[in-house]
Amino acid sequence: MSSTPHTTTNSGAPVASDAHSQTVGPDGPIVLHDHYLVEKLAQFNRERVPERVVHAKGGGAFGVLEVTEDVSQFTKAALFQPGARTEALARFSSVAGEQGSPDTWRDPRGFALKFYSTEGNYDIVGNNTPVFFLRDTIKFPDFIRSQKRLPGSNLRNHDMQWDFWTLSPESAHQVTWLMGDRGLPRTWRNMDGFGSHTYQWINAGGERFWVKYHFRTDQGHEFLTQADADRIAGEDADHHIRDLYEAIQRADHPSWTVYVQVMPYADAASYRFNPFDLTKVWPKGDYPLIKVGSLRLDRNPENYFAQIEQAAFEPSNFVPGIAASPDKMLLGRIFSYADAHRYRIGTNYNQLPVNAPKNEVHSYSKDGAMRFDFAAADRPVYAPNSHGGPAAEPSLVGDAGWESDGELVRAAATLHAEDDDFGQAGTLVREVLDEAARDRLVGNIAGHVGNVTTDELRQRVYAYWRSVDETLGKRVEEAVGR
Ligand code: HEM
Repeated sequence: MSSTPHTTTNSGAPVASDAHSQTVGPDGPIVLHDHYLVEKLAQFNRERVPERVVHAKGGGAFGVLEVTEDVSQFTKAALFQPGARTEALARFSSVAGEQGSPDTWRDPRGFALKFYSTEGNYDIVGNNTPVFFLRDTIKFPDFIRSQKRLPGSNLRNHDMQWDFWTLSPESAHQVTWLMGDRGLPRTWRNMDGFGSHTYQWINAGGERFWVKYHFRTDQGHEFLTQADADRIAGEDADHHIRDLYEAIQRADHPSWTVYVQVMPYADAASYRFNPFDLTKVWPKGDYPLIKVGSLRLDRNPENYFAQIEQAAFEPSNFVPGIAASPDKMLLGRIFSYADAHRYRIGTNYNQLPVNAPKNEVHSYSKDGAMRFDFAAADRPVYAPNSHGGPAAEPSLVGDAGWESDGELVRAAATLHAEDDDFGQAGTLVREVLDEAARDRLVGNIAGHVGNVTTDELRQRVYAYWRSVDETLGKRVEEAVGR
């Protein structure tokens, strides 16, 4: 007898052979009652769950958020109190590519964080850019389809992308980021992360603030050129997954310094930009970065499927002291993610160890597919009850709100003094990028637009870039012409 364990069936009984199906004689047909063979084939057919509809290709790791400063005047959330250490999960991803697509295709990168706080899980599901292509959730499915594949040929298509972008001028700021160096980070360790949306913080006295999160890489910004990214896409499609995994394996733990921008609640109404518009940043001259602490990743997943593929991040995961804002993108996302998880993983996705909070759960949810968690038999299954079941905390009711009273409409948000589609994109080009970065931007855009097939659409693209910056537009047109 060998000392290695016997193979067993899923129900634990020893298996007679790893190599031979049961047949009628050595050359005869396979029998249906070889239930071990049937189990093996059936399990194999069910190994995959649907990939994420966006951000399908990614990787991640566990770590710790450590609060080194005192921001308790802005939030009462336990995980942001001075000295707090909270276990975290990070998942980085590209957006449009499927599982198996090259990590180095030009794309924004997902920067999703889950904090297993003492008051429940808090998720910040952000990107490596502070803005986004849209300002209303209703356009998101259309936008993503323009980035994915044609229905007939199943090919990605630059005409779709530029058609959508030029008809959606609010995309200009994010497209400028995307076509610049940030669209091709050298590694996930070398990029910043942003919560992107404006969120609400509430302090112990009930005072409210608007905040934006910034995670600044301690590894320094590094980027790939388009030529390098194209080469690596062929040589090693998993370049970013490999880099993160190997860095953590050799104890070179990546970290990010965590900052917030904080806006007093009352400033929102009169700020020069609509502070809830996801296509805009708050210039740091208006609201400087305030240091909070540091996020360090120090533990690789033991199993990719269980801990990364089935990880369920959701912008709806808030804790006391943190809440939503009127950002119409954020409000849509608050519905969308939990819905996606119920479809992709199943109703009880929050029971999986990677998603389960570390604090006790006293929810009235019960049953559903694959439920193994249950409350004591004498605990009531309804609320209110007179049998000592969990009861809600009324003191939290006023926490997560803002004033709102109006007709039900379908309309663009109110414009603030300096709101437009192109202004901040132009500032990025002229004041943030240096000459060399501007040259690369022109080259990247021209390379991309070179694949557009009609002159009419190319003219729209030139007009889009002239609206961002007159000189940039002219240079793009000249470069495409060459
Ligand atoms: C993933 C919807 C905008 C960042 C996803 C998923 C959905 C979704 C359905 C897949 C979730 C899953 O299956 O696990 C939406 C909608 C949006 C939107 C409806 C617009 C209203 C954004 C924005 C950001 C963002 C603005 C960043 C600022 C991410 C990230 C992931 C993701 C990082 C991957 C999370 C992970 O690693 O599992 N989104 N999204 N999304 N989204 Fe969005």
